[in-house]
Amino acid sequence: MTDIQTPLSLTIRRPDDWHVHLRDGDMLAAVVPHTANSFARAIVMPNLVPPLTTRAAVAAYRDRIRAAVPKGVSFEPLMTAYLTDAITPDEIAAGFAEKIWVAAKLYPAKATTNSDFGVTSINGIMPVLERMADIGMPLLVHGEVTDQHVDIFDRESMFIDTVLALLCDRLPDLKIVFEHVTTADAVAFVKSHPQNVAATITAHHLHINRNAMFQGGIRPHFYCLPVAKREIHRLALRDAATSGDPRFFLGTDSAPHLARDKESACGCAGLFTAPSALAAYLQVFEEEGALDRFEGFASLHGPAFYGLPINVQKVTLARVSDGQAERVAAEIVARDQHIVPFWAGQALPWRIVEPATLPA
Ligand code: DOR
Ligand code: ZN
Repeated sequence: MTDIQTPLSLTIRRPDDWHVHLRDGDMLAAVVPHTANSFARAIVMPNLVPPLTTRAAVAAYRDRIRAAVPKGVSFEPLMTAYLTDAITPDEIAAGFAEKIWVAAKLYPAKATTNSDFGVTSINGIMPVLERMADIGMPLLVHGEVTDQHVDIFDRESMFIDTVLALLCDRLPDLKIVFEHVTTADAVAFVKSHPQNVAATITAHHLHINRNAMFQGGIRPHFYCLPVAKREIHRLALRDAATSGDPRFFLGTDSAPHLARDKESACGCAGLFTAPSALAAYLQVFEEEGALDRFEGFASLHGPAFYGLPINVQKVTLARVSDGQAERVAAEIVARDQHIVPFWAGQALPWRIVEPATLPA
């Protein structure tokens, strides 16, 4: 049935990734080509070690990213600042005015990878957030409480009730992106707010529920934060992503870690989805009968929220049968180590066929 109903190709504005981790050094060199292959721009997370808290550090990192983009590929990193208890409103506003960063990322301290220097009290950074609201600078939120007594599957909904709702009441004009939402609660929260509150949705949270982490044994390559939730939540995310609502847009949260750091007694959180994400999203829109809404989610809603131009360049994506499909590499080499990507070894159901110059 899908063979008859599915168009063989789709031509859209080149997509952007509104949430990605590109790391640094050998890892940066290994992963940037995969993001640049699918996306024209990406919002780059600042959770390096040490975190990126100054204009100088972020500008230097942007240069390193640009240097890692393969020749002939156009890719623009959109940078973010890492909020700490100590960062000042003036530094945040200066970086925004100088176009060094386009947003600031709020990691509750110790919520996730490299968040040790994150914010310990929202009230403590209120002057920074007030200034951001004044200048129209988006706040990107990792929305999980960090209290170890709160069940890990409830940390996002608890964050809504105890932090985010209060923040939205206090600063109703602040532009907020609730990053990588994983629950029906988060979808409902965003829908109940005006257009200045939006959310990114990852490809993996549209595909897996929490069972994936325990299928026949412990599966570290499906562990990320926020952790995947129950099936009802995955279905709510699929509804939101494919609804056409401009408050929801594409953000992969592709977060590479070396395989040895994930396949460990205390494995790191994060899925490296850059090589497969675009095809994985397309499969969801195809399954939901919403391919006509894919361009909005992937290429239009994000720029509208951030007040950036949409991409001029177009791409044509084609549905491919198993026989013609590219396969995701079983592993991606980063110097003498490797990363295991999402859908490792699997055939990609969609591929970019035009322009042909983008590297495979
Ligand atoms: O799973 C995750 N990995 N979640 C995050 O919030 C951070 C990310 C990372 O940097 O590895
Ligand atoms: Zn992230």
